Amino acid sequence: MSGQKEIVMSGIRPTGFLHLGNYFGAIRNYVRMQEEFNCFFMVADLHSLTTHPDTKELKANVHRVLAENIACGLDPDKVALYCQSHVHETSELYLYLNMMAYKGELEKTTTFKDKVRQNPENVNAGLLTYPVLQTADIVLHRAKYVPVGKDQEQHLEMARNFVNRFNHRYGEVFPEPVAFNYNEELVKVPSLDGTGKMSKSENQLATLYLADDDEMIRKKVMKAKTDGGPTEKNSTKPDYIENIFGLMKLVSSEDVIKKYAGDFDNCTIRYGDMKKQLGEDMVNFISPIRNKVDAILQNEKYLKEVMEQGAEKARKSARATMELVRTAIGLNYY
Ligand code: TRP
Repeated sequence: MSGQKEIVMSGIRPTGFLHLGNYFGAIRNYVRMQEEFNCFFMVADLHSLTTHPDTKELKANVHRVLAENIACGLDPDKVALYCQSHVHETSELYLYLNMMAYKGELEKTTTFKDKVRQNPENVNAGLLTYPVLQTADIVLHRAKYVPVGKDQEQHLEMARNFVNRFNHRYGEVFPEPVAFNYNEELVKVPSLDGTGKMSKSENQLATLYLADDDEMIRKKVMKAKTDGGPTEKNSTKPDYIENIFGLMKLVSSEDVIKKYAGDFDNCTIRYGDMKKQLGEDMVNFISPIRNKVDAILQNEKYLKEVMEQGAEKARKSARATMELVRTAIGLNYY
C-alpha cells in the first residue's frame, strides 16, 4: 500500500544546532508523519550557499543535522532522508521554474528583503530565487504536504503560484503544495528568559540545545526568570512563570506538574526547587538524545550509508517527475 500514501516533503537548513523549539515544533511532527505518509526530508545544503558561501563548516553541519534528526526518531528506512546537492534533478527543475517566477514578486519576498538588509554586500541571484529552489525541492516529488512553520507560509504561497503557472502553461504535472501541521501540535516552546520562544538567534542562554551538556542544561534552567512568588491564593501566573510550567508540561510527569501548580495556588511554591526539578527532567529528556547524536557522528560509515540510501530514494522519485516535466514542456525531440 505504500504507493498509495500521500507525499510529504520538507527541508532542513544545515545551520548548526537544533534546540528544544525545533524538536517540539518540527521534528516531532516529522517523526509522527513518517508512519502515515511517504516522506522526503532533505538537508537544504544548496540553499545554505545563498547566505553562507564559506563551506568550511558545511560537512560538519550536514552531518550534525542528519545525526540530530535521526537521534530524535527519524528513521532512514522509513523516510527518504537525503541531501539536496545529491539529487541533481533539483537543479534542472529549478531552472524551468525560474521561468515561472517574476522578478517583481521575488523582490517583494519578506525573507529576501530581510537578507538584503542583513547582508547588503552579497545580494546574489540565488538569494533572490531562493523560493524557486524551495519550490523545486517540493514539487520534484510531487509532494502535497509541507510540514513547516509560519515563517515559511509566504514561500509556500509563492510555490503555489509557480506551480499553477507551470500547470496552466504546460499541463497538470504538479499538485499544489500546502503547509501541514497536526492541529494539536502547534506547541510554542517558551524561551527561558520569559520573552518569546526559544530560537537560535536570540539569547543563547535562554535556549536549550539538544547538544547542551547536563551542567549547561541545569545552569540555563536555574537562570530562568522567577520572582518572589504569589502572595494571594489562586493568583494568575505572570507570563514568565507560565512559561516555566509550559516547559514542565513538555518533559515532566503529571504528578510533578500538579504538585507545583498546587503549591502556586497555595502560595507555598519554591521556585528554586521547581527549577531544580525542571532541570533534572530536562537532563533526562535531552541527554539520551545528545548521546545518540554523538554516537552517530562517530560513525561516518553509517552516515554515508544513510545519505546514499536517501539519495537513491529521492532520485528515483525525481527521475519519474522529470520525465513528465520534460515531456510537458516539449523537450522531447525524438
Ligand atoms: N526555507 C526552509 C527554511 O528556511 C528550508 C527549506 C528548503 C524547505 N527547501 C524546503 C522547507 C522545502 C520546506 C520545503 O527553513
